[in-house]
This record gives sequence, structure tokens and C-alpha cells, in this order.
Amino acid sequence: MRLPHRPPPGPGTTLDTALDVRGLRVDFAEADTPSAPAVDGLDLTVRRGEIVALVGESGSGKTLTALSVMGLLPPGAQITEGRITLGDEDLTTLPPKHMNRIRGHRMAMLFQQPKVMLDPTCTVGSQVAEPLRLHWGLGRHQAKARVVELLRDVGIPEPERRASAYAHQLSGGMAQRVMIAAALAGEPGLLIADEPTTALDATVQAQILRLLRRKQRESGLSVLLITHDLTIVTSIADRVAVMYAGRVVEEGSVHEVFDSPEHPYTRALLKASLLQSEEGRLFSIPGSATQSRGLDHGCRFHPRCPLALDLGITGRCSGDEPPLHTCGGGHRCRCWASRPGIERVGEAVGV
Ligand SMILES: Nc1ncnc2c1ncn2[C@@H]1O[C@H](COP(=O)(O)OP(=O)(O)O)[C@@H](O)[C@H]1O
Ligand code: SF4
Ligand SMILES: [Mg+2]
Repeated sequence: MRLPHRPPPGPGTTLDTALDVRGLRVDFAEADTPSAPAVDGLDLTVRRGEIVALVGESGSGKTLTALSVMGLLPPGAQITEGRITLGDEDLTTLPPKHMNRIRGHRMAMLFQQPKVMLDPTCTVGSQVAEPLRLHWGLGRHQAKARVVELLRDVGIPEPERRASAYAHQLSGGMAQRVMIAAALAGEPGLLIADEPTTALDATVQAQILRLLRRKQRESGLSVLLITHDLTIVTSIADRVAVMYAGRVVEEGSVHEVFDSPEHPYTRALLKASLLQSEEGRLFSIPGSATQSRGLDHGCRFHPRCPLALDLGITGRCSGDEPPLHTCGGGHRCRCWASRPGIERVGEAVGV
């Protein structure tokens, strides 16, 4: 596929970069009405051995970003702009056959519903063995022995017996461990995990997150972790990218972004998370992200932003799109109010 616009790899892309996404745009080919892009100019980098969390409300384009990287977009969706670089390869130009070799071998994905993703007609052992045979050319016996090792490594008791089980015989937590074993079997450098613990109870969730962290430490695995749960981000991620209406509006180390959030949207997300965990209260950000999809002028967040009103900069906010500018260290934010030289009254919005 020839793309209309393919920006160069991002500034600072080096051998240490596991994944670099520049200017990614994903559109749905609608029969009659042209719709707003679901991912719209997204820039994202994951360094080797790093866990980066991609957070944002439902519908902000997180899953489509992941599926774009994997080359697994649903029918009708297509990458219309951008470049996705894995190591030294531009994935947006690779033929499907080459992508098949890369998937499972150099990158793998973990989905939210492990039981749905596992094939009910095959034993879990044969599913974990598949990448071993496909990418490493292991014979039946070697693959079987390696499957047992992999299942044991992800904390599955009695791995010899469990290898012969079917998906319906496993708990949700066990099924997700099997999926992790299958994802890691091909020894990928990058794991994309899309809400991998959402369907699991808190104890199992913590075990799965510890397992990912251990893999990162032991084998230098890079992880792009998609979640709407900010407590997960603080417990596991090195860096965080906050996504709104198809693009990143704030990014930095977890410490930079969560201790000193610059973007009013990040502040609102943090407030919602805090109220939920401390008071059990559900707080949703007033308005809806669909108000912002495909806006072709101004800041995407301006229809919902309380800070713009407080600062009296609504004209600026609705007129010009703020760039993603540096606000110290690796912390970057897309908001006129956080730009050096403009008065900072972020606390005024009370979030
Ligand atoms: N299969 C689909 N068909 C049409 N539109 C879709 C489809 N999947 C996603 N979208 C659109 O793309 C937006 C972003 O989706 P998604 O990436 O799944 O968001 P997230 O993972 O952040 O919740 C959705 O709000 C929806 O409008
Ligand atoms: S640029 Fe303006 S509208 Fe956008 S987040 Fe900042 S203050 Fe709000
Ligand atoms: Mg999603």
C-alpha cells in the first residue's frame, strides 16, 4: 500500500527504540458519509526494556493503535497516514507475508478476553507450541518440553497436566497466563497488552502484572500496556502516554505526568481515578469525546475544557491546535496553558 504521507522516524529514534509510531492516522471506509479518523496524528515511542502505558477514556483509539502496530485492523479500518517502525523496519510498508513472520516472533499481543482468544478446539499446550514450531522450527517433542517450561515460568501449577487442558477447563487467570506463555513463546522484543487484566479479579490481576514486570526485568521485554486503570499504570509502567480523541495529549515518566499533570484532560482522568479508588464514587468527565473527534480547528479538548474558560483563552483554544511541547525533562503536553510564558493557573479548575 502506498501511503500519502509518511513522516520520518521520530526525533531521538535510536537503536534503543523498540517501537516508534509517527503521525498515525486510522480511518474507517464508510460507504456514504466520511467519518472522523479514529486515530489522528498519533506519535508514540517505546524504548527497549521499557513499559509504556497508553491511557485514555473508552473510544480514544487505544485498541486501534495496537491493532495498527500488529497489522490486525478490523475490516473497513485502514492506516491512511503515518509510519510505524519496529526496530529498523517500517511496518506500514511490509507485505502481509512478512508481517506474519514478525507477529509472534518480534512482537506479540495480549488481549482482554483470554478465553475468547484461545481456540476451544485445541489443547492450550498446542497453542503455546504454535509459535515455537512456526518461528523457531522446533520439532514436536522439543516444542512439548518447551511448552511445559513456558507454562511453569508463568506460574501455572502442574504444567504437564495443564498443557493437555482445553480453554474451558481453565479459570480466567490461568487462561491469561497461558496467553502470556503463548505470546512470549516466540521470544518477541515487544509485547502489546490491551487491557490484559480487566476481566480478572484483583489478586490475579496483581499476579499477572508482576509477571509482566518480571519478564521486562529478566529479558528486557518492551511492553505497550493499554489500560483505562491508572492504578495499574502507577504499579507497573515506566512512562505513560495519555490519549484523547485519537492523539497523545500528554506524556512523560509516570512520576512526571501523575505528580505534576499539565493537561486538563489528564487532571480530570486522575480525579476520576482518585474518587473511584478512595470513595468508590464514579466520576465521569463532563461531555463526550465524540464532541472532539475529527475537529479540524483548535485544541481537541476545547469543547470540554474547564481551564480554557477560567483562563479566558477560549478563542486561542478553539482557533489553534497546540503542539506537543516539552514542559521539562521527558514531560510533554499539548495545551496552550502549559506553554512557557502563558500564565499557569491549572489549580484553578480544582482537578
Ligand atoms: N470495528 C469498528 N467499526 C467502526 N468504528 C470503530 C470500530 N472499532 C473502533 N471504532 C471507532 O474507533 C474509536 C476508537 O476505538 P478503540 O480504538 O477501540 O478505542 P479504545 O480502545 O480507546 O476504547 C471508537 O470510538 C469507534 O468510534
Ligand atoms: S489548549 Fe485550551 S482547551 Fe486545550 S486543554 Fe489547554 S486550556 Fe484546555
Ligand atoms: Mg480498547
